[in-house]
Amino acid sequence: MNILITGGCGYIGSHCAVVAIKAGWHPIILDDLSNSGEFVIERIHEITGVRPTFIRGDVRDATTLKEVFSSWEIDAVLHFAAHKAVGESVEVPLSYYHNNVGGTLTVLEAMKEYGVKTFVFSSSATVYGEPKEVPIQEHSPRNPTSPYARTKVIIEDILADLTEAEPDWRIARLRYFNPVGAHESGLIGEDPRDTPNNLMPYIAQVAVGQQERLSVFGGDYPTRDGTCLRDYIHVMDLAEGHLAALDHLRGNEGLLTVNLGTGTNSSVLEVIGAFQKASGQDIPYEIVGRRPGDVSAYWADASLAKQLLGWRAKRNLAAMCADTWRWQAANPSGFRKPTEARQHRLGLDSHSQT
Ligand code: NAD
Ligand code: UFG
Repeated sequence: MNILITGGCGYIGSHCAVVAIKAGWHPIILDDLSNSGEFVIERIHEITGVRPTFIRGDVRDATTLKEVFSSWEIDAVLHFAAHKAVGESVEVPLSYYHNNVGGTLTVLEAMKEYGVKTFVFSSSATVYGEPKEVPIQEHSPRNPTSPYARTKVIIEDILADLTEAEPDWRIARLRYFNPVGAHESGLIGEDPRDTPNNLMPYIAQVAVGQQERLSVFGGDYPTRDGTCLRDYIHVMDLAEGHLAALDHLRGNEGLLTVNLGTGTNSSVLEVIGAFQKASGQDIPYEIVGRRPGDVSAYWADASLAKQLLGWRAKRNLAAMCADTWRWQAANPSGFRKPTEARQHRLGLDSHSQT
């Protein structure tokens, strides 16, 4: 069983590749490495004993896609390839629409040409915007507030139109909440190119001394400790959710839309506390002003995924922090500058923080 994983060298795609291999799929990874590196393929091999097929290419390139679909009998596509930074999308919207929407269209057109009709799409809780009610259910209104979020909404709509016109497609729109954590081996994890925008990678960089201190954006929200509440989900749970969606699609044509979250929430201060406990490191922080555009609290109603897919997130915040720490301590500079610190990855001693 061959599965095409676009963006499979990235954070979520690489973890999905590991889980897919364990489930018996052979991954064909198509990635232009615009936000990742080929060394990820080595790490996937090291974890699983299987080397995924890797093609360096852009999902917007129809010729490359034709080559892929004509060279392998593809059974399903996991489509991760996209730009994903909310702030950047405000500055360069055309790049976001071109890559995210354009790339998805090219993939779908190639699939149609080659008769491949099983497609899993990385959507996001960001499609909901500021929610009217929490926890958020799948039928809640979508209210995107950034170009990035609008690319996700547009693609969701394209997928709905496609299944309406051609009901034999099997399409999942998976709305991720806040993916964090890393594979328990510490060999793959999130590796932001620049200063991290997101909470967990920033905390992890403070813990290894790459950043001095964390700024907590806002301490005056109407929440239990004044900081924002989010539904952090372990990336391995998320990856397993994709496999559960694929299983579901095997038996069901049409369109599936589900939240992938834990159904619980944590505050920023709770995440800091859990990370300090898991790592044994002090995380200096200061509470500063609110970050524009942040929503005070949202988390998933995760019951539909349980009901339809038989899937639920199993790993708690402590595991998310411990696994992030294992990854960050072993790879203090991410994938790009592997250091001797890697050999300490299971020991997590002070030498690993160079
Ligand atoms: P990532 O940047 O780590 O991975 C995306 C991968 O796609 C990268 O390896 C990049 O090189 C590749 N890519 C980008 N454009 C490409 C193109 N045109 N052709 C080929 N490859 C291309 O991001 P991620 O965190 O793994 O996110 C994966 C997907 O999940 C994205 O669609 C993202 O929007 C979505 N998502 C992510 C989050 C999150 O917080 N990480 C939350 C919700 C949804
Ligand atoms: N935060 C800080 N300091 C930081 C970074 C974040 O206090 O340095 C706070 C934020 O203000 C927020 C919380 O930590 O309260 C979580 O922030 P993240 O940036 O980690 O995550 P968001 O919920 O803002 O956004 C994430 C992804 C989006 C995605 C959205 C919904 O970044 O791409 O989840 O899925 F759209």
